[in-house]
Amino acid sequence: RKTAPLPEDIRARKGGVPIVSLTAYTTPMAQAMDGVCDFVLVGDSVGMVLHGLPSTLGVTMEMMILHGRAVARGLKASMMVVDMPFGSYEESPEQAFRNAARIMAETGAGAVKLEGGGSMAATIAFLVARGVPVMAHVGLTPQSINTLGGYKVQGRGDAGTALLADAQAVAKAGAFAVVLEKVPQSLADRTTAEVAIPTIGIGASAGCDGQILVVDDMLGLFTAFKAKFVKRYAHLGDDARAAIAAYAEEVKARRFPAPEHVFGDASPEKKP
Ligand code: KIV
Ligand code: NA
Repeated sequence: RKTAPLPEDIRARKGGVPIVSLTAYTTPMAQAMDGVCDFVLVGDSVGMVLHGLPSTLGVTMEMMILHGRAVARGLKASMMVVDMPFGSYEESPEQAFRNAARIMAETGAGAVKLEGGGSMAATIAFLVARGVPVMAHVGLTPQSINTLGGYKVQGRGDAGTALLADAQAVAKAGAFAVVLEKVPQSLADRTTAEVAIPTIGIGASAGCDGQILVVDDMLGLFTAFKAKFVKRYAHLGDDARAAIAAYAEEVKARRFPAPEHVFGDASPEKKP
């Protein structure tokens, strides 16, 4: 059977067949994408999509480890990457290593992801030198929402040069791939052409080396808001609401449970 790719296999996909990835937070969703996605990200978006937090800032190491362990149980043929939550890596390379090592040891993740470009280069190099493969994340970095001043497109105009330099810096520091979030298509294409590691786009360009989406967004399960870059491939939130309404009707009308859902006094004869 197919085995999970390693970070170096992902790196080697630069310029090749696009890398397929989604987020997951639970075992059944991980099972649904196992072997279809090259890697599965346990994103700190879990805080917003599953825990109802207003941003990713309140996500803890404990949440990432709990969801990482759940996702790991559902994967055999996809690599798992776990996000480092806000406050778990920014202070120093040592702090980052301590928490990255805990995530890898307690979840079995093949790599961690952290947000930041040039400012995180020394930390990325420190982790990689100590056995922690790192996926970087530049452009819109939701953990910095309070300094970015909102969820707006990053790297437009002159800011594009700095964003390209950030992507170059994380590649030079040893990251095996870099997420580009919410940047102009032209900048994503230029970054993909000039940076030696795979670019994983979200709100970026079909020309990136791979794509990622938040699974609850693409399935229509998270409906609090929809970013322009989200494509809904299903409407499971609508399906859930309709199913719950139908159940409520049937319970009140005593149409559920039906005869096939209830038990007789005698045990049924075994089928031959
Ligand atoms: O947390 C997350 O889901 C992410 C992806 C959107 C890249 O970081
Ligand atoms: Na994230």
